[in-house]
Amino acid sequence: MDEVVRPSAVDRALRPLHAWVWRDPHRRARKLLRFAETEADGGRDLSRAAELTRDPLLRRLYLRHAEDELRHASLFLARGRALLRALPRRRSGFEANWLAPGERGLDDLRVGDEGDESLLAFLHLSEKAAAGRFALYRQVLTNDPATRAVFDEVLHDEAFHMSYTHTQLSRMATRGSRGRLWRARIGRLWKAYLRVAAALASVLGTLLLRVQYFVVLPPFALLARRAAKREPPGFMPARQPSPLTSLY
Ligand SMILES: [Fe+2]
Ligand SMILES: [Fe+2]
Repeated sequence: MDEVVRPSAVDRALRPLHAWVWRDPHRRARKLLRFAETEADGGRDLSRAAELTRDPLLRRLYLRHAEDELRHASLFLARGRALLRALPRRRSGFEANWLAPGERGLDDLRVGDEGDESLLAFLHLSEKAAAGRFALYRQVLTNDPATRAVFDEVLHDEAFHMSYTHTQLSRMATRGSRGRLWRARIGRLWKAYLRVAAALASVLGTLLLRVQYFVVLPPFALLARRAAKREPPGFMPARQPSPLTSLY
């Protein structure tokens, strides 16, 4: 399968980093559970796509694809749970999902708003990216043959998803599939940019709040404490009532 699906050049360059991400068995288990969620999500989106398409062949293929994704979800779930059962309890930690994500499937694409051509183009690119990533994860999981076997099985289906979406796109695209693929590529780039921007905004927001808490607030707290020291202790005597001879 490695010959059919090759990891991208960037992922190949980052291979040591991927190996490090997958080395920790707790992180490996949690990542598999997260992959199970995204696969199940993808399966639901594909079932919806099968409902919406008017093309009978595409409907059959989408349904088969949805079944595959749901099966991947149960494979990842079972392996993640088995790993966790064999490990001592530990709090969840760093998962590096931005570096080693699972299959994004239709991501946050609204299936109902897309036509068959744009859906197929988007699916093809997603499946290709997922297959490349899974091929790399499989390569770095040398010390965990059971998890490697799960990726082996999933990878086989991803290669089929990658090829059928391309074949169907070529059949459906009246003006050629290249333009569609480029538009889908730009859409994916835009989504990747939004993801990075949101992550950066979250980091900057947390940093700013911490600076406010630890740098801006302490002087005010000190001033308030000093002012409190100048106040006489105990209850203050009530003010004398003013004679009711004036309005003021
Ligand atoms: Fe999958
Ligand atoms: Fe897939």
